[in-house]
Amino acid sequence: MTLTELATTGVSLPEIGMGTWEYHAGPKPLRSGLEAGALFIDTAESYGSEPVVGEAIRGVRDQVFLATKVSPHNFRPTDLRRSVEASLMRLGTDRVDLLQLHEPNPAVPIADTMGAVAELITAGKVKFAGVSNFSVIQLEAAQKALGKFSIVSNQVRYNLIDRTIETELLPYCRAHQVTVIAYCPLARGLSRICDCDPTGVIAELVRETGKSPAQIVLNWCVCQKGVVAIPKGNSVEHILDNCGASDWRLSETQLTRLNTRIQHRRRNRVDQLLRQWLPSPLQSLAIRSLNRMPRRLRRRFR
Ligand SMILES: NC(=O)c1ccc[n+]([C@@H]2O[C@H](COP(=O)([O-])OP(=O)(O)OC[C@H]3O[C@@H](n4cnc5c(N)ncnc54)[C@H](OP(=O)(O)O)[C@@H]3O)[C@@H](O)[C@H]2O)c1
Repeated sequence: MTLTELATTGVSLPEIGMGTWEYHAGPKPLRSGLEAGALFIDTAESYGSEPVVGEAIRGVRDQVFLATKVSPHNFRPTDLRRSVEASLMRLGTDRVDLLQLHEPNPAVPIADTMGAVAELITAGKVKFAGVSNFSVIQLEAAQKALGKFSIVSNQVRYNLIDRTIETELLPYCRAHQVTVIAYCPLARGLSRICDCDPTGVIAELVRETGKSPAQIVLNWCVCQKGVVAIPKGNSVEHILDNCGASDWRLSETQLTRLNTRIQHRRRNRVDQLLRQWLPSPLQSLAIRSLNRMPRRLRRRFR
């Protein structure tokens, strides 16, 4: 597994970690991923996966980079402290390596939230502070509020077909040494990426490299400077396949073929806001309706 430096912390992070949203396969697949070198697990208080992550890291805690998230309704200092204590309890550990604010919450002053995060770092319960789904402006405000500590990462959606962050956020993170943790690096399912591959470039690269489709897609992601990826797999097979996306590189020409032949989008601000604020039941309904559309039409809305 290739390691990369987390921001400028001196800490090495596997370029492929393991996501655990909608993970329900028990500790064994996660354990096999850890043994294959994906010593980086991402969870969140809202995922319901902290207990199984706790089981998976038991006995190897010190070798694992453990990231969790606090939900926006817990951003007030007292709630945040309580929320982190509960996460630590569920994870069976006394500290997390990365505490991420799951998404911005304009209803709570960022200075209050970051003050509480700084206290947790000082107390040794949190090693590093990160954010998720923060825009450049929100990231700057959070960094200012955190003061002497650095925000080391921003976890955002990034994959071959959704390249929204390339316009503004990714260049900013690179310039300010904030690691981008790419979520949904498989676009929540390879079929969505295939929908956007009308000329079959992924199948060509599978034949040329002998790698799997998921490995091609994930390797593209970690070839981007300053980016690590956290695919979620619900089986040993998927997790080990994903670990095999590391330790090799697509060539420059292969990357160019993916960049030019996979249809991707960069969402505008209105689209981004809609995605962020649409209530979950409506989001699920929209996804179900989308999946019933013919492929050519589906591609336009991904
Ligand atoms: N911060 C945020 O707001 C946020 C939002 C979304 C996600 N995330 C994080 O990012 C992680 C990853 O995102 P995600 O879970 O939404 O989607 P993802 O990793 O892009 O895709 C997961 C899907 O890909 C399938 N898959 C996994 N490995 C595969 C392989 N080798 N070959 C073929 N199919 C494969 C999975 O199937 P199986 O499940 O059957 O294995 C699942 O259907 C999450 O688990 C979570 O930790 C964070």
